[in-house]
Amino acid sequence: MQQDLFTKCVKFTTAREVMAAGVYPYFHKSQSEQGPETIVEGKKRVVICSNNYLGLASHPKVKEASIDAIKKFGTSPTGSRFLNGTFELHEIAEKKFARFVGKESAILFTTGHHSNLGAISTLVGKGDVVITDKLDHASIIDGCRLALGEMVRFRHNDMGDLERQLSRHKDKGKLIVVDGVFSMEGDIANLPKIVELARTYGARIMVDDAHSVGVLGENGRGTGEHFGLEAAVDVVMATASKSFASIGGFIASREEVIHYIKHFARSLIFTASLPPAQVAAIIASIDLIEKEPERRKKLWENTHKMKEGFEDLGFDTGTSNSPIIPITVGEDMKAFQMWRMLFDEGVFASPVITPAVPEGHAIIRTSFMATHTDEHLEFVLDSFEKVGKQLGIIPGGSIRRKKETQKRWKFTFSRERMTAATKRWIKNLWWFNR
Ligand SMILES: Cc1ncc(COP(=O)(O)O)c(C=O)c1O
Repeated sequence: MQQDLFTKCVKFTTAREVMAAGVYPYFHKSQSEQGPETIVEGKKRVVICSNNYLGLASHPKVKEASIDAIKKFGTSPTGSRFLNGTFELHEIAEKKFARFVGKESAILFTTGHHSNLGAISTLVGKGDVVITDKLDHASIIDGCRLALGEMVRFRHNDMGDLERQLSRHKDKGKLIVVDGVFSMEGDIANLPKIVELARTYGARIMVDDAHSVGVLGENGRGTGEHFGLEAAVDVVMATASKSFASIGGFIASREEVIHYIKHFARSLIFTASLPPAQVAAIIASIDLIEKEPERRKKLWENTHKMKEGFEDLGFDTGTSNSPIIPITVGEDMKAFQMWRMLFDEGVFASPVITPAVPEGHAIIRTSFMATHTDEHLEFVLDSFEKVGKQLGIIPGGSIRRKKETQKRWKFTFSRERMTAATKRWIKNLWWFNR
């Protein structure tokens, strides 16, 4: 019998069930600038789910640079970097970034996702192998899927497993790709050991510094600087959508490597380039990062305060040692419920469920900014204390302050109300399926 392509869409009702249950955590609308506080669906909430680590996304100088670029260059390049879409601003940004991370050359893609697609699929050719950490970001996995070479994975930050994979592919061209800071777990790749193994087995190293530039290292130059191993990283990738307060993605490396990527990366050649306003925001942000190291200092003060605060309350924060602090909740449904309770309290966070995390280890992903004040952070800790106790995630009684409020959580959501299809859908959420 002939199948209608749209049948699967019509049958997909599970997200609607989650919406009807009142715990759907996705696509909520911000109605103001996204700073440490944002109006989300009519109410001011403290944001602890953005990647605006240094708080530059609403910095007056960054906004001004964008506005000036629109006035001078208009709103769109209307074409690819390859053809009409290269403006002088793109090259200024590339030179600045290359210098920032200590590489000869860099190329700016339209998103971070595009840069991982383009660099990995171009560098890993037929007969080569790309070796990735099992918890690498989805855009790395997508780049590997596009590459003609083989993809193999090693257990998260398990250097014994990495060595096993390297030794199985001795004679091939090899690229090891890792997140510098892992986007959900908040832990840092074991770069010193990766460098040692790469030297032994003749592999190249690519580090995705999406969550590390502006954050790690004395000058915010990322994972290489953090470990004093900048020169040992062959390819640096960084998004502009986090500390650089814009959108876009850089690949930096030796000049010949960038020259090659520029002429073969389909995700660069066959898409329009980054608009001038966004490029100008990147340039202004890198300038501010270099001139105002106190932002990074404050980010780390906030990070330490929150890690300690959560742990004092009895929360499990996993292996995080960055501004990304996951809070272990347990069951997926509990994470949705906790997200909703926090949202109602005035805290905007993100739930992360299976398969992004092992079954029974769902988390609330929190991330902090230099621009969070002590008041914001105290409010977040109070809210987590209250909700964590109500859900039985942390022990009852007063641990931190004697401020337990009496309001009972009235929401009637329960695991039983979920159909098998809903549970299946939750398990297959595409953006977590990495
Ligand atoms: C580790 C990592 N790499 C790449 C990306 C993709 O970057 P972008 O959002 O700029 O496309 C992200 C985005 O969340 C990320 O966390």
